[in-house]
Amino acid sequence: MKKNEKFKLLEEKHTEAELGGGQKRIESQHKKGKLTARERIELLIDPGTFEEIGKFIKHRCTDFGLENEAYLGDGVVTGYGKVNGRLTYVFSQDFTVFGGSLSEAHAEKVCKIMDLAMKNGAPVIGLNDSGGARIQEGVASLGGYADIFYRNTLASGVVPQISAIMGPCAGGAVYSPAITDFIMMVEHTSYMFVTGPNVVKTVTHEEVTSEELGGASAHSVKSGVTHFSCENEVVCIQNIKKLLSYIPQNCEEDAPVYPYEAGDEKRLKLNDIVPENPNQPYDMRDVVEGIVDDGDFFEVHKNYAENIIVGFAKIGGRSIGIVGNQPAVLAGVLDINSSNKAARFVRFCDAFNVPILVLVDVPGFLPGTDQEWHGIITNGAKLLYAFCEATVPRVTVITRKAYGGAYDVMNSKHIGADMNYAWPSAEIAVMGAKGAAEIIFKKEIKSAADPEAKLQEKVDEYTDTFANPYRAANRGYIDEVIKPEDTRSKLLSAFEMLENKVDKLPKKKHGNLPLG
Ligand code: HXC
Repeated sequence: MKKNEKFKLLEEKHTEAELGGGQKRIESQHKKGKLTARERIELLIDPGTFEEIGKFIKHRCTDFGLENEAYLGDGVVTGYGKVNGRLTYVFSQDFTVFGGSLSEAHAEKVCKIMDLAMKNGAPVIGLNDSGGARIQEGVASLGGYADIFYRNTLASGVVPQISAIMGPCAGGAVYSPAITDFIMMVEHTSYMFVTGPNVVKTVTHEEVTSEELGGASAHSVKSGVTHFSCENEVVCIQNIKKLLSYIPQNCEEDAPVYPYEAGDEKRLKLNDIVPENPNQPYDMRDVVEGIVDDGDFFEVHKNYAENIIVGFAKIGGRSIGIVGNQPAVLAGVLDINSSNKAARFVRFCDAFNVPILVLVDVPGFLPGTDQEWHGIITNGAKLLYAFCEATVPRVTVITRKAYGGAYDVMNSKHIGADMNYAWPSAEIAVMGAKGAAEIIFKKEIKSAADPEAKLQEKVDEYTDTFANPYRAANRGYIDEVIKPEDTRSKLLSAFEMLENKVDKLPKKKHGNLPLG
């Protein structure tokens, strides 16, 4: 050995192909329109900041010929680095090595960075591209999965966890992303399912492709499993970075605050959004865009349960989570899916100290056997519960309807909201004027010479009494009736005032969220 030769690092001898499953498999990955595990990390992590951990790990399996086939790293690249200057842990599964399948050693690498993330309080990003449990390893790989699930659960609410699905993710493997806070899927190259098309065909005789069964479209529109459907891997990674910009490193910290210079905060355009006719729809996103910094709304779960919108934005440079009824879809009614969607988002914001803004225009809960038999009672209760137990700053603006139980649920003063505003167009009542008049003036209308005219008279009476925000404001349920154009400045002031809010739940092991 030459002098200094002993200080030469083993890694200097290895190209990416040698570390992974070889050049041919890299080319095959590219042909499928997919990047490699290391290319993905390069896009995600700030240049020059990635530190790999466990590059020389190999599997220890000696069954089914694996004693003769092993690759450095064993199908997953793990480590830490900076994303927009902030510490982030990452694992990126390498499909070129045994299809990215998860061995005992592979799982240990993932667990190692999860443990570090927990101890050091920083997010974990999982870039998933895997054929599932390493078949040759049997129960050792199942144990590896369970070790990860356990850590996902312990980390939930402590550090943010984001999963990107960039290839196959099947069988029990899906449950790791499912426990994390956000899932992103890449369109046409990724899929998630518990049982694949072959098993489905055998058991239910349904013929379905992987894409139809568990592609980005199915999970962003139908099941709601994924929060983001991304047109390609680059967009997916940009979304991860953007999402991280709104959230803190861990549950003890606040989200980063960005520079903001106060200016003219009047937004005249907000005056023209709510139509004169209370039954005419409008897009609640227009309200959001009129309120937040630069009109920039980072919508989450965009294609799922579109009758409610949720997402992140900044106001005065501070992150907020927004939940808004969407009058443009199903009149903004609350149903099972929208309640679940919003409840999950509210719980994320609360766990990670992101203040919540709620925009209300809700005619009530969706009636019908389908909703009742699928449990609108239990599912609607999840949203109610989520708001009730949220201790972050909570501000509500009622833009139009706030009817019935949905008034209570949508971050009303009674369930702990800090500041409640209403626009002059707000209608806060037990139900719509026609329904109300038909019930309480039933006899009077029936016995009138002209029942139609009587009904209209009573509808007008009820409308005059309740189709406004002042009854609620008289009782202090609404703190102030504000002009739409002043909404942004009121919210800037409210969230600044609430910046140091401290609120505690009663001591308990944990509550019993109505999961049903
Ligand atoms: C070992 C695997 C593997 C696995 C793929 N490979 N999956 N090796 N264990 N789970 C290997 C292949 O043998 C192949 O090796 C290489 O990876 C690439 O796979 P291909 O099949 O050539 O790729 P492709 O055609 O793109 O198909 C990808 C695939 C398919 C759809 C994922 O490989 C597949 O069906 N794999 C098995 C999936 C599965 O049943 N996994 C177990 C699920 S149960 P060579 O050497 O030929 O390149 C599970 C339980 C988890 O995961 C439970 C947790 C509780």
